[in-house]
Amino acid sequence: MTQLPRLGVNIDHVATVRNARGGDTPDPVRAALLAEEAGADGITAHLREDRRHISDEDIDRLISALRVPLNFEMAATEEMQAIALRHRPHAVCIVPEKREERTTEGGLEVAREENRLAHFIAPLREAGCRVSIFIAAARAQIEAAHRIGAEVIELHTGAYCDAHHEGRLDDRNRELQALREMSAFAHSLGLEVHAGHGLTYDTVAPVAAFPEVRELNIGHFLIGEAIFRGLAPAMTEMQRIIAEARA
Ligand code: PXP
Repeated sequence: MTQLPRLGVNIDHVATVRNARGGDTPDPVRAALLAEEAGADGITAHLREDRRHISDEDIDRLISALRVPLNFEMAATEEMQAIALRHRPHAVCIVPEKREERTTEGGLEVAREENRLAHFIAPLREAGCRVSIFIAAARAQIEAAHRIGAEVIELHTGAYCDAHHEGRLDDRNRELQALREMSAFAHSLGLEVHAGHGLTYDTVAPVAAFPEVRELNIGHFLIGEAIFRGLAPAMTEMQRIIAEARA
């Protein structure tokens, strides 16, 4: 349990900047390779239904260029399932998706869609992908994720991070406590626990300190910080904070 959590670097927002002008730069695959060189344990990319950042071609290129595992984030749609089955990435993380949202705002409602999701993830698992389900820190969702056969859950840290940055201390502490308890609960069911969304240098330490957390997926903040420090130094500082928290 003293093992450090893996750092998965989400490169979606390199593609956001590229797409703002419609050309080829900055290239998210170049950022992924740079992150890999700087010690990322994995790369995360979300192919959204509306292709607002990562494109199909980016996924093709990531699959052939990366040496570290790709964590392919996707909504539970037939189109995405077919793409995942074609590429067979190391991991598939199922996320909720709404066209009007700015980012993935909440966790997946697994409990409400248990049957459909169980059938949806079965072929992905048979194809050898590790299936992760992105959920809120709620017991019912974790139990449902376990029942449908997921091996991994990723806890949505967005509500905790928002409360922290908005100075709502009671909410922050309550969200953090829920994340702490639900990490332990998921682990007790045999699920591997990941966490992510909205994490920054200021918010990552308490989450990294949970002994059950095996992976942290961080994107927006690191890509933003890379503007000022460069991607490798931005990651190094994140890795330092994570290691210190775990120690
Ligand atoms: N984990 C999941 C499942 C996500 O959907 C996202 C955002 O795409 C992240 C982690 C990373 O969030 P952020 O970009 O806020 O660090």
